[in-house]
This record gives sequence, C-alpha cells and structure tokens, in this order.
Amino acid sequence: MIYFDNGATTFPKPISVRRAMNEAMSDYGANPGRSGHKMSVKSSEVMYSCRENVAKLFGTQNPENVIFTLNCTSALNTVIKGILKPGDHAVISSYEHNAVVRPLEALKKNKIEYSIAKCVPYDDEQTIENFRNEFKTNTKLVICTHASNVFGIKLPVERIGALCRLNGILFCVDAAQSAGTVDINLSDSSIDFLCTAGHKGLYGPMGTGLLIINSETTPDSLIQGGTGSDSANLNQPEILPDKYESGTPNLPGIAGLNAGIKFVLNRKPDELYNSELSLAVALYKRLEQTENVILYTQMPEKSHSVPVISFNIEGMESESVARILNDSYNIAVRAGLHCAPLAHRSFGTNETGTVRAVVSAFTTKNDIAYFSNAVSRIAKSNKVKKSL
Ligand code: ALA
Repeated sequence: MIYFDNGATTFPKPISVRRAMNEAMSDYGANPGRSGHKMSVKSSEVMYSCRENVAKLFGTQNPENVIFTLNCTSALNTVIKGILKPGDHAVISSYEHNAVVRPLEALKKNKIEYSIAKCVPYDDEQTIENFRNEFKTNTKLVICTHASNVFGIKLPVERIGALCRLNGILFCVDAAQSAGTVDINLSDSSIDFLCTAGHKGLYGPMGTGLLIINSETTPDSLIQGGTGSDSANLNQPEILPDKYESGTPNLPGIAGLNAGIKFVLNRKPDELYNSELSLAVALYKRLEQTENVILYTQMPEKSHSVPVISFNIEGMESESVARILNDSYNIAVRAGLHCAPLAHRSFGTNETGTVRAVVSAFTTKNDIAYFSNAVSRIAKSNKVKKSL
C-alpha cells in the first residue's frame, strides 16, 4: 500500500523498532521495577534509557519527569483533569483535537469553563492577541496544539507560552503532530506540560504516549495503584514518574519507542522536517495544478507548517475520494473530520470534511507522483461524470 495516513500513525516503523520490540518479547521482557532478577532489571534499564532519550530529544534536564502514557489523549487528560479544579477556567486554540475538547466538555459538570481563542492562519500576532483576549482572572491553564492535525498549520507556542508565564497561567502543548519533526527544547521554554503520541513522528508503536513535566506544579494523578516503589505506603507516591505510572507498563511498546526516538535522534528532527517539508511542497504544487482540487492552506513553509495537507475534490465527498484511493489505487489516507471538528469549523470544512495526506521519513518522490496522478484521475473522471 502507498501509505499517506502518517497523521494517524506512521507506517512503516523503522526496522530497529520492530527488532527492539521483538527482543523485549523474546529475550528479557519481565515486569520492570517489580523484581530484582536480571530480566526485570534489564526491562527497567530499557525504560530508563527511553526516558533519557526522550529527555535528550526534548531538551529536558530530568529523565524522571518523562511519564509514559497510553497515547497523547491520556497525557492530555492527565494534565487537564489533574490541574483544573471547580471554578477554574481554561483557554484552548480553535484547532484543538477532541482529545482536548471532550475532557473539557466533561469537566463542565464540575463548574470548570473553557474559552476558544481563534487562530488566524499565518498571522501569529493576531493569534496571540486572541489568546490574550480570552484570559480571565480565573484562567489557570492554556492548552494549545503545536500544529493542526488536519491542516498542518503550526502555532506560535513559544510566544503563547511566554504570554501565559507573564500572566501566571500554566501552559500545555499538544505536540502529537509535531514531535520528532519540529525542534522542541524545553530547557529554555515556557511550556509546562508537553504531551505527545509515541507512534507518530517518534516512530514507536501504537499504545505509547508521553507526558513531559517541565514545571514545579504537577497535575493530580488520575489513577492510583502499584508502582513497585514505597509499597508499604497506602497512598500514591508523589515522586515522578511513579505518581502517574501505576500498573504494569507497556514494556515492549516502550522498547520500540526507545528505538524510534533513537532513529529520530540519528536522523535529526530538523533534517527529517526539511526532507518531509520538501515532499509536502511537491505534493501541494501538484495538487494546486490539478483542476477541481480545493486546497485550504497556503504552500507549506518552514515558519507556519508541518507536512500535513488537506484537500477536497469539487463535488465529491471526502470519504468517497478516500474510498476510491483505497480501492482503485491502493493508497491509504484519512478523510472526514479527523477527530478535530473545531479545526474543520475554522476552515469551513465541518460539513464536508477533507482528505488528508501526511508524509513521513519513509515517503518517496515516487509516492508523491503516484498520489498526485491518482488524485488528478479521480478529479477528471468526476468532472466527466458530472458533465454527462
Ligand atoms: N489524531 C490522529 C489523527 O489525526 C489519530 O488522525
């Protein structure tokens, strides 16, 4: 299959990721941090090595502040539900995923409110001003996506974070669509909580996610249970990462994630970004020249984009285009609302959805040519059908 559904999860994974998971399953995979035997110690070492590599990739001092989660959604839920208390207010961007919106909707019953700051594509000043205008005296937390998972627009998170810090507001970034390709350095950043998936740009397996805590303020833990530490204590430990990591972890997944992060560190996020951006630009140019293709953003460029492209074909439902790409061309994309109705409302595509194509480190120029030709044929044959 020609795979352009890298926004949902990257595929394929590097061979080193598959090997690392296989080794964890076949050579040593005992329960980490629970027992003193060699296999358990080896599992703990692999987990710690992954924390160290995450810390290196995101420029954070302390590997203990790296928390393993199930996915980006569970990391975001931990921050949102662990920080906000009755009477608090939060601000989010108008591009947020349901991973942010649904927890906040659920918290309304606890008297927690939220407002939406309108993002203005390519106008960072106005976007920042719109955040400022939503702040209230009880605003405790701002949650902002680093880049829209639908339209690939990058938001000025460092500047929004600086504004939050000035106003004494905690700042959480959803880096699901940017981690691994956009440099994020927490050591000189106003980001308090960084949430991301392990299975997208970090090339780990599904079932892995990360919460990196870059603040003295820590969220309450949403689950309590065994951590393998301080077992005589009936209360949840306060130390990191144990506070958030109750229950047996996904060791094979974390071993795979560790290999994925090493792959990213070797290839360097900036270089991965440049090569993916040039593929996205090539795709955009071909789609732009195709009659009846509707694009919603400007040409991808370094300061405002990640390599994600959304489009439609005039007069066709996005899901129908995706079905034809799958059935007739063996191409994988995701169509519809991408779990991000707010972003679709922002671009006026909440009725139609869009077809989304996302490249990865494994996408080739040939894939781009094949994809663009397929879209061009579908657009042409739809035009002929309409004129009959
Ligand atoms: N959030 C993922 C996507 O954008 C699953 O498709």
